[in-house]
Amino acid sequence: MPAGLGAGIPAKHGHDTDDKRISSFLWSPTVSPVTKPLLETVRGKRQQRPPIWIMRQAGRYLPEYRETRARVQSFLELCYTPALAAEVTLQPLRRFELDAAILFSDILVIPDALGQTVSFETGEGPRLEPITPEGLGRLDPTKILDRLAPVFETIGRVKSGLAPDKTLIGFCGSPWTVATYMIAGRGSPDQATARLFALQQREAFAALIDILVEASVRYLVAQLEAGADVVQLFESWALNLDEDAFRAQVIEPNRRIVEGVRRQIPDAAIIGFPRGAAGMVAEYAAATKVNALGLDYAMPVGFADAALSRSLAVQGNLDPLRLVAGGALMEARAEAIIAGFANRPHIFNLGHGIVPETPIAHVERLVEIVKRGR
Ligand code: CP3
Repeated sequence: MPAGLGAGIPAKHGHDTDDKRISSFLWSPTVSPVTKPLLETVRGKRQQRPPIWIMRQAGRYLPEYRETRARVQSFLELCYTPALAAEVTLQPLRRFELDAAILFSDILVIPDALGQTVSFETGEGPRLEPITPEGLGRLDPTKILDRLAPVFETIGRVKSGLAPDKTLIGFCGSPWTVATYMIAGRGSPDQATARLFALQQREAFAALIDILVEASVRYLVAQLEAGADVVQLFESWALNLDEDAFRAQVIEPNRRIVEGVRRQIPDAAIIGFPRGAAGMVAEYAAATKVNALGLDYAMPVGFADAALSRSLAVQGNLDPLRLVAGGALMEARAEAIIAGFANRPHIFNLGHGIVPETPIAHVERLVEIVKRGR
């Protein structure tokens, strides 16, 4: 066999030089590592077509999720059973050509791990024993990783079942958003209970935010160490806040988390999703130093593109209800979003979580448009 031919490649007749050229084309001793297009985009490298994942992509719109969910009593049991949590994390990737898996868990595992009573009532959403200024002392952020150990096992299992070009996203809820549930004991349309608590119980509120910042840093660092490629901060209730409250309750705690995580993992890739940030969006991005910014569907594409630094990756922002309706109004809007962010790193996503009523065929169609432009 002429020198330079790789094992298994049949020798060709002809000039030795030709053989060498062909063989080095077919078999190169330095195998280039597989890249993850979504992670690359988070880090600021625009891809030819935007990579795509869908917020809350593992969930009740999938029959296989409902089937797995039925095998356990409670939603939290699903979050804390690594074999099942890993299974539901991977389910959407078996169906759709998505570029990322997001860890299956919930933002309310932090209050649960801090020792607050948390449950999920079917059809009603989360219920927590509301915290009181006196009860705060019992919440210990230094112990949370014991309770959260199954989450890190889930990450390890997902990682081993995931193709090398797929990105694994970890996450936590941002302190303000998690605090709204801890204070009111449930979700609410305007977060009035928590907003008033922040104004009237200033010391207790600051102590609660400190606990949540510390817990979040520990939790995200542990997720990244377990194998998450990137983490997202879900600030789902960044709306209904005046600008002073937005700075104090949203920007500052998110900034402290990014700083705290990067103190331990300097190149940590972090997506911030301040839903409802509106005119505060550029200040949030600059002050927190997130790598990528999730945009909700009310954010105008042209406004965001003009307001945000060209090198910053954006993620979003199709209205989930357009995906329920499907058809021309979904397709035209998806195309407008892709065109509007054509000159910067862009990750396609919805502007909030997918809803249970979403037809699977519409998700397939959306992925086709984003991946192939048709
Ligand atoms: O994205 C994914 O697929 C990963 C899993 C994930 C869940 N919740 C699973 C879940 C993620 C990333 C979350 C985040 C989350 N949880 C947020 C932030 C994102 C957002 O949508 O704003 C919030 C606010 C929560 C809190 C929460 N969890 C609520 C308000 C509810 C009840 C409302 C509802 O949709 O039913 C949950 C429950 C929940 N979390 C479900 C799932 C799949 C449904 C419960 C079930 O299947 O029994």
